[in-house]
Amino acid sequence: MQIKKAVIPAAGFGTRMLPATKAIPKELLTVVDKPGIQYVIEEAVAAGVTEVLVITGRGKGDIDDHFDRMPELEQVLAAKGRTRELEAVLKPARLAAMHYIRQQQALGLGHAVYCAKAFVGREPFFVLLPDDLIDGGPPCVAELFAAAQEGESVIAVQEVPWQDTRKYGVVSIDEATGLVRGIVEKPEPHEAPSNLAVVGRYLLQPVVFSCLEQITTGAGGELQLTDALALMIKQGHKIRPCKFSGVRYDTGSPLGFLEANVGMALAREDMRESVRGMLLQLLRRG
Ligand code: G1P
Repeated sequence: MQIKKAVIPAAGFGTRMLPATKAIPKELLTVVDKPGIQYVIEEAVAAGVTEVLVITGRGKGDIDDHFDRMPELEQVLAAKGRTRELEAVLKPARLAAMHYIRQQQALGLGHAVYCAKAFVGREPFFVLLPDDLIDGGPPCVAELFAAAQEGESVIAVQEVPWQDTRKYGVVSIDEATGLVRGIVEKPEPHEAPSNLAVVGRYLLQPVVFSCLEQITTGAGGELQLTDALALMIKQGHKIRPCKFSGVRYDTGSPLGFLEANVGMALAREDMRESVRGMLLQLLRRG
């Protein structure tokens, strides 16, 4: 069995990145040389996904354009023999069958994922949050898939500094089974069950939708995916934590976005040397 469908929630305002995100969807901001959301969809495709649903909202129409064909530009590039650029223009349009749906009200991540109910149907599926880029190693969602046993959901987790638990979903692990025992959204450090945070990659069983129907408003006044996962556990469904191999960047804040750009450029063989030189020069300048 393979997982064919991925859901990418991309309806958020990107307030931490204003003013950059005033007129440009945050998912289209460029990390090194392509939009963040393209990395995420490439990760899903590398894990075998063929159908992608992007949950958008008002002002996000450019995402759709990025993954569409662009015949006028393609013709110009082809006529000039600019093969490399032509490939770069064609690639996003060839990645997967793309679907879009608008989340009409910003009611939270849980509500955004619920918008995928009809698209998903009765199969397990991946959710990838495009703020989180995971570089290096096998595709993170492929690692989730490899970790899953029959009927289980799997979530990517990572240790974070204790003072950062308030930024994440945080899990506790049952030592006997290795499964997630509890999960809470954005706990204060003194209330957090551990410092093991959820990173934005999930392999979910479709039962999550019935749990999403039952939850009420949670942290931040929003319908939280985390609360639906907690309900799944309560109902006896298994959720397995997966510590992935790659490096995770949070592109949702200016500093994390900068770190992603520098880190991912340094990881590229074609750029490493020049970026190192550039950084050293900048540091010397002070
Ligand atoms: C979301 C989830 C949270 C998770 C995080 C990972 O939070 O609600 O559980 O830990 O993504 O990036 P957000 O970053 O949307 O506030």
